[in-house]
Amino acid sequence: MNKWRRKRSIMMRYDLTAHMYDQRYAEEQEAKYKAGLEVLAVAPTGLILDVGCGSGLFFPHVADNAEALVGVDISRQLLIQAKNRARSFSNIFVVCADADHLPLRQGLFSFIFAFTLIQNMPAPSVTLKEIAQIGNHHACFVVTALKRAVDLETLSVWLRHSGLCAISLRDDELLKCNVVVAVKA
Ligand SMILES: C[S@@+](CC[C@H](N)C(=O)[O-])C[C@H]1O[C@@H](n2cnc3c(N)ncnc32)[C@H](O)[C@@H]1O
Repeated sequence: MNKWRRKRSIMMRYDLTAHMYDQRYAEEQEAKYKAGLEVLAVAPTGLILDVGCGSGLFFPHVADNAEALVGVDISRQLLIQAKNRARSFSNIFVVCADADHLPLRQGLFSFIFAFTLIQNMPAPSVTLKEIAQIGNHHACFVVTALKRAVDLETLSVWLRHSGLCAISLRDDELLKCNVVVAVKA
């Protein structure tokens, strides 16, 4: 399957199941957010990006301290939910875009989160490279990947190939994802 076909089929799958996303995954994702923020060890501030934001479940965890929070996703149906969630805040913006082609200025964001996105992407290192470019020099990146799809070694290689360097990680047996914090190499 070529890259765009694969992306389109993933997008359609999320569009079709968007109405039950929160019910199915909220608990699982909340555990990952908790782990990601613990591993990060500082409260995210400034400009924050949530790539593959889905229905915006992560937004309330960081919006209060953010100068602005941008959520990007390819699924319009999930983004409708994310937009509704963002209504309680004045600093959240949602954008429908492919994570490999982010319509955002490079070197701008201080904290970038990608929860359970990367194993969906046809060329994860390419995606991570795009994500890396959006971060400023001191940016922190929190990336999680489903354990059943990607082992930690592979995730570290993807990060290295994209110019990122893992500085801490969490492999908690209760989580379905490995959680990595990375900075620019
Ligand atoms: C497992 S969900 C995780 C959603 C969200 N991060 C969360 O914590 O609930 C994966 C998300 O990645 C999005 N996604 C998949 N392929 C994408 C792409 N090429 N560009 C942007 N988002 C994508 C899906 O639409 C979906 O919202």
